[in-house]
Amino acid sequence: MKILYSPQTISNRVSELATAISRDYDSLVIIVILNGAILFAADLVRELSIPIELDTLSVKSYDGTQAGDITFYKDIQIDIKDKHVLFLEDIIDTGNTMTYLFKLFEKRGAASVKLCSFLKKPKAKVNIDYLGFSIPDLFVVGYGLDYNEKYRELPCVGVIE
Ligand code: IMP
Ligand code: MG
Repeated sequence: MKILYSPQTISNRVSELATAISRDYDSLVIIVILNGAILFAADLVRELSIPIELDTLSVKSYDGTQAGDITFYKDIQIDIKDKHVLFLEDIIDTGNTMTYLFKLFEKRGAASVKLCSFLKKPKAKVNIDYLGFSIPDLFVVGYGLDYNEKYRELPCVGVIE
């Protein structure tokens, strides 16, 4: 495997993101998009200096179809009405999943909805408010990201050769 980001590089960047988020909000509802963002979220929330509420959601999106073609495996449980919401994602490829979730959560009455993504690919056509790293159009694994559910546990991000 070719390593793109080492654990130390990831940790430094996560700290910077946590500092920026803590500066921008007084309090926050963080919604972790399962399963990929679990490791990122675990590291990020421990570095925040503001009170948060934490929930998770799990969706399945279908490639090559409309942004609305999404099935929920698990929705959130907490009430987000009039609260500031920040989604945590592992990677934004097309951005279709997030475009759908943005619309849905605005309809549900959140005070604001923003996105923090650990990685972003060149095709992404959704606004990312807090971004870890921009990567080339490669398939990457590790730090939560999987290839057929494998490699999520790796502490670095890499490309399988
Ligand atoms: P999109 O932004 O709606 O196209 O979908 C992004 C989702 O596709 C992410 O949440 C990942 O689950 C998955 N994905 C996209 N690119 C990669 C990759 O390079 N490695 C692992 N998963 C990826
Ligand atoms: Mg994902």
